[in-house]
Amino acid sequence: MVPLSRRDGHDLERGTDLAAALDGVDTIVDVTGVQTLSRRRATTFFDAASRHLHQAGAAAGVGHIVALSIVGIDGVDAGYYGGKLAHERAVERGPLPFSLLRATQFHEFTEQTIARGSLGAVTVVPTARIRPVAAREVAERLVTLATGAPVGRARDLSGPRDHRLIDLVRAVLDARGMRRPAIEVRLPGAFGRAMASGRLRGTADADRAAITFTAWLDSADAARDASAPER
Ligand SMILES: NC(=O)c1ccc[n+]([C@@H]2O[C@H](COP(=O)([O-])OP(=O)(O)OC[C@H]3O[C@@H](n4cnc5c(N)ncnc54)[C@H](OP(=O)(O)O)[C@@H]3O)[C@@H](O)[C@H]2O)c1
Repeated sequence: MVPLSRRDGHDLERGTDLAAALDGVDTIVDVTGVQTLSRRRATTFFDAASRHLHQAGAAAGVGHIVALSIVGIDGVDAGYYGGKLAHERAVERGPLPFSLLRATQFHEFTEQTIARGSLGAVTVVPTARIRPVAAREVAERLVTLATGAPVGRARDLSGPRDHRLIDLVRAVLDARGMRRPAIEVRLPGAFGRAMASGRLRGTADADRAAITFTAWLDSADAARDASAPER
């Protein structure tokens, strides 16, 4: 396995020296992300990173690219989700044969929300109705796709239960003994409407993962997240 992140000395947005790094690689798994709510910034990032992975992969003889996107973003061409739609188009453009998995928000998204939304004494949480899934189960699905033939768009993967993000944030704060108030705020525009509407939970025909939020919070995965340095 060859990790390609800035931490490992590879900037996919710039795309330099990637073909050499991909020498001998059969399949690329693209789980890159950029922390922004700007549609323009997210689009620039995903366009460039995906193009560079495709071009370098083709030059190195890679046979398959597997990429991760988000359930329910069709028609939400706004904010970060607009960038993810651009990501999907870039993955589909090729030239490498692809598999594209959409997953719902991870259980770990709650930790990300706390890290990004903690301002002074309070934690600000977007109004969101979600059906979260353990990152572990998403990773297992990505491995299954990566070890098979390219399928194009794969079946969506969603979590076992519906939640409001604010309730999950409060559960994590409580479990960590963090006594800070969490305040729910409805984000503006199409991006905020998508989060609040419940459309990000996906449809009934998605595959449903097994690990509940409560089981995740009790697990070693959540404990590891709690002790990890802030991203
Ligand atoms: N979090 C969720 O709930 C969720 C749900 C469904 C789908 N997804 C999708 O899954 C993907 C990963 O999400 P995440 O939440 O795990 O993101 P994340 O924690 O922000 O991780 C992003 C990864 O991308 C790497 N990266 C960022 N900029 C890079 C660059 N210029 N060159 C190379 N690597 C770069 C980062 O490593 P370095 O910083 O070391 O470069 C990091 O490993 C995203 O595409 C996201 O849209 C996420």
